[in-house]
Amino acid sequence: MTSYRIAVFASGRGSNFQALVDAMVSGWLGGEISLLVCDKPQAAVVERARKAGIDCFLFQPKDYASREDYEREIAVELSKRGVDLIVLAGYMRLLTSVLVEPYSGRMINIHPSLLPSFPGKNAIGQALDYGVKLTGISVHFVDGGMDTGPVIAQRAVEIVEGDDEASLSGRIHAVEQQLYPEVVSWFTAGRVNLNGRIVTIAEPAAR
Ligand code: GRF
Repeated sequence: MTSYRIAVFASGRGSNFQALVDAMVSGWLGGEISLLVCDKPQAAVVERARKAGIDCFLFQPKDYASREDYEREIAVELSKRGVDLIVLAGYMRLLTSVLVEPYSGRMINIHPSLLPSFPGKNAIGQALDYGVKLTGISVHFVDGGMDTGPVIAQRAVEIVEGDDEASLSGRIHAVEQQLYPEVVSWFTAGRVNLNGRIVTIAEPAAR
């Protein structure tokens, strides 16, 4: 049986990437992370991939005339490895139809708010500034918009008096690191169904 192949796109620290790698190593992710795509060759996530022995496709957007140009190169790397699922984990660039269309229904993102509230950049700061008492995390399919695709899973995180970006980010990241590998394991087990905007998760197969 060929394994389920995953590519992770990330630009930064890579705590979600690490959680996915840990879940792969311990066997419960149910698939193989075949590639890290990163637009910042100096980012900490690259070192994490190297330690885990995962191939990296590193690029600098400024070396290309357009987003479409580097995405075409990424698409070649993805097809070489037969990637089944693209997992965006702190990838700080909007994607074009070069990748969004062929991977429609096979590309997911994690966002630190309860969508549709606070899409885009600095979602944690936006929630604090707005004064909501409850925020959280959303995992969603990627479509052509900014954090607009169908929601797959959400978890709430309470905002408490005295919270600042550092304290709230810490609690949000801890929940993200549990939720994201779990959601990816639903994909590798073939349990995720998409019907219009509605996502349902099938019961796990009986052992
Ligand atoms: C996470 O908060 C995620 O929700 C957002 O970017 C951040 C990435 O963090 N999309 P890390 O690089 O995985 O630590």
